[in-house]
Amino acid sequence: MQELIIKGPSKINGSIEISGSKNASLPILISTVLAKGSCVIGNVPNLRDTKFLISILKNLGCKINFKNNVVAIHSSNISKKIADYDYVRQMRASIVLLGPVIGRYSSFKIALPGGCAIGTRSIDLHLDALKKMGVKIKILNGYVVASRSGKSLTAINHRFPKISVGATQNIIMAATLASGTTVLKNCAIEPEVIDLINFLNKCGSKITVNKRVIKIAGKENLELSNHEIIPDRIEAGSYILATMATKGKLQIKNFLIEHLQEPINLFKKMGLKVKKINTNEYLFSCSRIKPINLIETKEYPGFPTDLQAQLISIFLKNGKKSKIKENIFENRFIHIPELRRFGADIVLKNNIVTIDKVSELNGAEVMATDLRGSFSLIIAALLSKGETIISRIYHLDRGYEDFDLKLKQCGVNIKRKK
Ligand code: EPZ
Repeated sequence: MQELIIKGPSKINGSIEISGSKNASLPILISTVLAKGSCVIGNVPNLRDTKFLISILKNLGCKINFKNNVVAIHSSNISKKIADYDYVRQMRASIVLLGPVIGRYSSFKIALPGGCAIGTRSIDLHLDALKKMGVKIKILNGYVVASRSGKSLTAINHRFPKISVGATQNIIMAATLASGTTVLKNCAIEPEVIDLINFLNKCGSKITVNKRVIKIAGKENLELSNHEIIPDRIEAGSYILATMATKGKLQIKNFLIEHLQEPINLFKKMGLKVKKINTNEYLFSCSRIKPINLIETKEYPGFPTDLQAQLISIFLKNGKKSKIKENIFENRFIHIPELRRFGADIVLKNNIVTIDKVSELNGAEVMATDLRGSFSLIIAALLSKGETIISRIYHLDRGYEDFDLKLKQCGVNIKRKK
């Protein structure tokens, strides 16, 4: 397996272009199974996850090509009605196939996603809403076996008991072809959900958003339309945090700053300087970090859980018992033991991480455990004296396009070792 070798300490100093959003690309590519015709989707990041999803869609019978960040889809029709365990266990996000496929076809079988490094990843919120829409659900041999009678699903008036990005996306897609108007309350409203809604409306859907209430007027059928994926706000946030941690300077192109407004406001309070250079182009710099006593992860527009691990890293040499509380996932701390291998002083109790500063961090051999936690290891390596070797870097390839090239562009001494 490939490894990363990083020589520290190192400042981030350079400029990068943000890639298309992984978490907008996945549901939008999946949603194409709802519609007839063909289309081109641009700014799709070339990642392990996007390539993997495209292999799943091809396995189901979709005609789909991916080259130079552009996906061409030709009359997506699902001929195979099973998403195998071998696929789904490697990418839990594929569970949002269930809503659109059962919305358009009368049966579908998809493996239960199973847990992962950050939690149990249950799908009760998805299944409960689909049952209300008329889907018969059986759990058999580790699969969700879904079927429905009649011409289409039934529109529902439904309040999610808990905010869920994937469940919101799944049910929105199922509702686009349902008979009647579906009203969903307590929805996730992340930019990636809104980008999916914008794409579906271009395909002939009629979806409106008012705070956390989303209304979907069901249609007979949808027609594929071209679309450009929004930039990846979590990729941008990860590099901004690396810049703050190393007290560097970074110019970022192709970044919709409004997609990270609350975190950026917080970072400014901590010492981040932001200068607008051009449309969607900014210069970020930081010369000192003022620790904040407690930061809590929240659903959008709050501080994203996908930046929690990277945020910890900026306190490793600056924290004065800074605290971060993880409210979204029950076990998103698997990166903590790896960070301690650099010499970090981190205490974890009841989903609250307390970081006290240390005067020195030293390079170490560490293991990537999940996508975002792996980026916190990179930041820790930049703060450490000596060589760091990071193994299992396929986790990084899942969600950070060309991260080694982008970091090299910022002056980091980094290389992949076969
Ligand atoms: C999406 O995952 C993102 N993934 C995650 O990003 C992100 O961390 C998460 O939303 C929260 O923002 C994609 O978009 C592909 P949820 P998702 O359903 O949809 C619980 C990354 O690093 N829950 O909003 O799976 C769940 O266990 C990834 O890019 C239920 O209890 O997240 C969690 O505690 C990691 N029952 C909370 O809700 C359900 O049926 C939020 O999960 C569904 C979820």
